[in-house]
Amino acid sequence: MKLLHTIAELRAATAAAPAAPIFVPTMGNLHEGHLALIRQARALSGDSGSPVVASIFVNRLQFGPNEDFDTYPRTLQRDAELLQAAGCDVLFAPSEAELYPEPQGYKVVPPTELADILEGAFRPGFFTGVSTVVHKLFNLVQPRAAVFGKKDYQQLMVIRNMVRQMGLPIEIVGGETLRADDGLALSSRNGYLSTDERAEAVQLSAALRAVREGALAGRAAGALNVARVAELEAQAMATLSQRGWAPDYVLLRRQRDLLPATEAELSGAEPLVVLAAAKLGKTRLIDNTEV
Ligand code: PAF
Repeated sequence: MKLLHTIAELRAATAAAPAAPIFVPTMGNLHEGHLALIRQARALSGDSGSPVVASIFVNRLQFGPNEDFDTYPRTLQRDAELLQAAGCDVLFAPSEAELYPEPQGYKVVPPTELADILEGAFRPGFFTGVSTVVHKLFNLVQPRAAVFGKKDYQQLMVIRNMVRQMGLPIEIVGGETLRADDGLALSSRNGYLSTDERAEAVQLSAALRAVREGALAGRAAGALNVARVAELEAQAMATLSQRGWAPDYVLLRRQRDLLPATEAELSGAEPLVVLAAAKLGKTRLIDNTEV
């Protein structure tokens, strides 16, 4: 695997490849969930000659002033070894000066109805930061496909919509969320949890499951409506609060645009998704499950 730090090196490597890359952007501190995305990229490449390119860049633009930009773990050496073993061909790990040599005045601002709900409501500017860096990385890597985890469900949708609206010739592929044996979704931020918090953390996926099962039971009984959804969401929030969490949201939404489903859609077959974010101690975790 080539470890490259400059845009010039990256361009030379991709220009020399027989086909456009399959790209997996990350912020490093990798876990099995990321490595599964690399393996998925490897499989997508098949015998096409497309190199699998990963990036590691902790993107200041997507962190709020009170978030963990400074303390976000930077573990490049270990990450590089894991990527190589997972079948990555090129790791692009630019410095901040390389990617943002001057203040990034031009930004990609996603539409408010998608980017200012759920995560965006609690992390103002987050999806502008994500869209801007991903657009820039797409310009540099020029992939034919890119793989993003479904764990960051809203992020995947923001990127899909950006690519569609901007006419970028890139296939966006979703990777399934990997979970620990107890159900906790794998995340770089799980490393912040104390032993007790780690044992408690499973309750976030349990809360999602409770809403999902309630929604499915409601649908089976022909009794899923807006009022019942509000009840299920409130119950999940209350359970987490009683257990000592500070939940930001637990919401059942339409998969297609993450907006609330209408009465007709709830009683019909509209694909839904439960999304949640909650703080346990100092660590904010997110998760989701499709219904
Ligand atoms: O999901 C992430 O790790 C980041 O948001 C991404 C897509 C690499 C952009 O910085």
